[in-house]
Amino acid sequence: MAEGTQRRDETDPVLVIIPTYNERENLTPLLRRLHAALPQVHVLVVDDGSPDGTGELADELAAADERINVLHRTEKAGLGAAYIAGFRWGLARDYRTLVEMDADGSHAPEDLPRLLDALGDADLVIGSRYVPGGALVNWPLRREVLSRGANLYSRILLGVGVNDITAGFRAYRREVLGKLDLHDVASAGYCFQIDLTWRTIQAGFDVVEVPITFTEREIGESKMSGDIVREAALRVAVWGLRRRAGQLRRLLGR
Ligand code: GDD
Ligand code: MN
Repeated sequence: MAEGTQRRDETDPVLVIIPTYNERENLTPLLRRLHAALPQVHVLVVDDGSPDGTGELADELAAADERINVLHRTEKAGLGAAYIAGFRWGLARDYRTLVEMDADGSHAPEDLPRLLDALGDADLVIGSRYVPGGALVNWPLRREVLSRGANLYSRILLGVGVNDITAGFRAYRREVLGKLDLHDVASAGYCFQIDLTWRTIQAGFDVVEVPITFTEREIGESKMSGDIVREAALRVAVWGLRRRAGQLRRLLGR
């Protein structure tokens, strides 16, 4: 935590950003659960023109509830681009905390109060599956292996101590997102989560993990793909090499 900055207060306005692509069946129950757990939070649904009509449903929900907002994007451009657009929207308003959450129910809104509490002592709180108390429910073994592998790979190449660096359930203080150069974040897929964590740590902010239970979706499909995995593997390798080159330059005193 940077010296002299204001820690999170319970009354600070919170924006929960929810990216959606074909989540029509999941959206209404999720928002109901979220507002039952935390009635005061605002929501921004960032929809990439879902063919199943998620965007239209979000508009209907927004018309009936002033806490709900919608950002429509014209094409499926990946999780990263959707979140960057959502962060910009939130930073242009007076939200002090910006939350990332999946639309499919994998992230329990009931866990969010604990994430927000932890933000009193941190700049970024990650809802983590891989710290004591964290859990996975119904996740296929191949996804768990891939996810744990991605974490190990990132830890080795980047030398960071985060256990769940690809996690998509997080809370950022607005000062963090305001300081990072969001315009040059090019990560499109889930690599976006690694990218922002790495930038947050490099900028000197405090990252804390709190345990969550991640429950595999019951309705709809994951958007995970081979391209998403390849993007992450490649980008993390490049960041890791840059980091090593920097260490070497410092060692050689130039
Ligand atoms: N707007 C938009 N555009 N939303 C998207 C896109 C996109 O291109 N791709 C995915 N989403 C939305 C989904 O609709 C969902 O709300 C959320 O992003 C997560 O996508 P899933 O496809 O359900 O992710 P997952 O369950 O396979 O992956 C989980 O694990 C990853 C690795 O740990 C999630 O928790 C990811 O956030 C996490 O990075
Ligand atoms: Mn999911």
